[in-house]
Amino acid sequence: MEVNLTRTMPRPIQATIHTAALSHNLARARLAAPDAKVWAIVKANAYGHGIARAFDGLRSADGFALLDLNEATELRALDWRGPILLLEGCFEARDLELCSRLGLWHVVHCNEQIDMLAAHKTQQGHRVFLKMNSGMNRLGFKPERYRAAWTRLNALPQVDEISLMTHFSDADTAKGISAQLAVFEAATHDLPGERSLSNSAATLRHSGVLAARSDWIRPGIAVYGGSPDFPVHSAEHWGLQATMTLASKIISVQQLAAGDTVGYGSIFTADGPLAIGVVACGYADGYPRHCTTGTPMLVNGVRCRMVGRVSMDMVTVDLSPVPGAGIGSDVTLWGRATGGAVLPIDEVAQAAGTIAYELMCALAQRVPVVVA
Ligand SMILES: Cc1ncc(COP(=O)(O)O)c(C=O)c1O
Repeated sequence: MEVNLTRTMPRPIQATIHTAALSHNLARARLAAPDAKVWAIVKANAYGHGIARAFDGLRSADGFALLDLNEATELRALDWRGPILLLEGCFEARDLELCSRLGLWHVVHCNEQIDMLAAHKTQQGHRVFLKMNSGMNRLGFKPERYRAAWTRLNALPQVDEISLMTHFSDADTAKGISAQLAVFEAATHDLPGERSLSNSAATLRHSGVLAARSDWIRPGIAVYGGSPDFPVHSAEHWGLQATMTLASKIISVQQLAAGDTVGYGSIFTADGPLAIGVVACGYADGYPRHCTTGTPMLVNGVRCRMVGRVSMDMVTVDLSPVPGAGIGSDVTLWGRATGGAVLPIDEVAQAAGTIAYELMCALAQRVPVVVA
């Protein structure tokens, strides 16, 4: 049997990437460190937005930082000729050939990477960001080893310029950045080179201390409209706009009586007559299964609560606040509803016991995405 694909109706679910919001958020980050250049962090396929889809909104960045070489290649294919930084540097020696060929800047965080660079045959001087482990204890040279690494790099003919970099573990919490900043400053105060210290939380929360110390800031989540310190501060507090909307429609309505339950495990029981909307969105679309009854959701722009268990392709919503809703009504899982209402992704993430980063990155392949 022949299937006429042009007549096949897709599921109503769709994600939208908001180009103007990306530009707005980038400008907002820049405002916090007006003299610094901005790396737009586009790792993990631009936090799930898609590098190619996000690119237009982020063109005003001074550079793009990521860690996957394929993503760096994709950016060059988009004709981005400015700086690209590999945040974890090279994973193996042959990556350096790509760095030379595409003019990629790269982090150096361990001696093995310096060994690879020393053995690399190139006419092209490399720009490297030497990473200090100032307390995060993931990547980087300990402060007492940092100067030796800098001296070694500085002696290599393959190296053109060395910048200095660290990453804060607690810029989003009350613990703050002071201890790590003191460690970094003590070890680098007399070393030349540009400095890059701040993720979104550091950029927005510690601008008073860091703006003057930053040649490059590295905002990620703020660019994508997530608050770096939710729930202490909301995206609205920071002046950030939603860059990703996940929307779908109601495909069925069930009228429940007192005592009726909904979905797998019967974890929600109606305590009176209740209209339940069934939404075409489930965990196979990237909607978190850990969302519990009470997770906010907009139906026709009106705030409602999700009820019961999220299943693979469907989720259920209490329609009490929108008596007019029915099959075909618009549902906003996160982001912007038509009419202007916004459901911050941070709120949905919190209800699922996670962070907005994870929801953005987990948007499933099967969800059609449009750029607005
Ligand atoms: C080295 C580095 N810089 C900057 C960022 C951006 O962080 P955020 O999204 O919290 O702004 C990240 C993300 O994890 C990172 O690993």
